[in-house]
Amino acid sequence: MTGKAQNARKKITVVGGGHVGATTALWVAQKELGDVVLIDILEGMPQGKSLDMMEASPVIGFDSNVRGTNDYKDTAGSDVVIITAGLPRKPGMSRSDLIETNTNILKSVVGEIAKHSPEATLIIVTNPLDVMVYVAWKVSGFSPNRVIGMAGALDSSRLRSFIAMELGVSMKDVHAMVVGGHADSMVPLKRYSTVSGIPVSQLMSAEKLDAIMARTKTAGGEIVALLKTGSAYYAPSASSAEMAEAIIKDKKRIIPCAAYCDGPYGLDGVFIGVPVKLGAGGVEEIIEVEFDAEEKKAFDASVKAVKELIGELDI
Ligand code: NAI
Ligand code: 2OP
Repeated sequence: MTGKAQNARKKITVVGGGHVGATTALWVAQKELGDVVLIDILEGMPQGKSLDMMEASPVIGFDSNVRGTNDYKDTAGSDVVIITAGLPRKPGMSRSDLIETNTNILKSVVGEIAKHSPEATLIIVTNPLDVMVYVAWKVSGFSPNRVIGMAGALDSSRLRSFIAMELGVSMKDVHAMVVGGHADSMVPLKRYSTVSGIPVSQLMSAEKLDAIMARTKTAGGEIVALLKTGSAYYAPSASSAEMAEAIIKDKKRIIPCAAYCDGPYGLDGVFIGVPVKLGAGGVEEIIEVEFDAEEKKAFDASVKAVKELIGELDI
């Protein structure tokens, strides 16, 4: 055997080899979605983490190759690119405090990715999320269905976990959805939360349910306060890998994502968290759920907050 083989696998690049990026690379490799390239500006770090993952592959049992690099040439021809490069927040910071530094990072990263992988679908993770997706869309020049923000998957997973933990039921049976911006203004949809089709409002008191909805909105901050040195990464990376899987395997999953809404929900060209059909075409459909008056008011306020942040951008 020569060790040289034809490679018909998909290629997934993860930009930023920090907490979220490295963990995402591991989930993606473990799911065998394709071969993984992990890129960071720090020399040696993505190479070291990737080698460490390869050394875990016989134990875990995956055959994806994971390669670390500092050179965008190695990312060329990627099918999916997950962008996690940028600063995380520290205690006392809001996601929007990161806007200036992370906009500059996103500009340089997305410029390189668009040059080397013009056919890729981008999953943006860097905060402030809804604004960074907008930056990535502008800089890449890609069609908006191929530029998607990861937040709703995470926020909904958090809500689902809180409901399951409260009721002592399997996580698998809990469905719930969070829409709007990835900020404390996000909108957990109480009426669309179910356990095997049973509205969750029939299974717990209104007070308990309201407390869970409130906890979901500040769940990212809860982890920051506990960690003290950075923000969450296991649930964020699992959610990013879930989105990559939906795209790579053309699964047509219905997952809330920050998607470009120009028409849907009466919006005029803003990236915001809404349920979408996610498949090989990226965002293949935006699903318009019905809001009651309270939900609509909260969603509109969340859109307004995102638009105000976009207004601060210099691009
Ligand atoms: P981290 O600090 O552990 O990792 C960030 C990595 O980005 C570092 O390794 C750094 O060297 C790298 N980096 C910086 N500039 C770069 C550049 N120009 N090119 C390539 N790599 C570069 O941070 P962590 O915890 O991984 O978080 C990353 C980002 O993801 C943060 O902005 C954080 O707020 C965001 N985040 C978003 C979530 C969401 O739901 N959308 C959830 C969790 C985190
Ligand atoms: C989170 O929600 C920091 O946005 C990140 O955990």
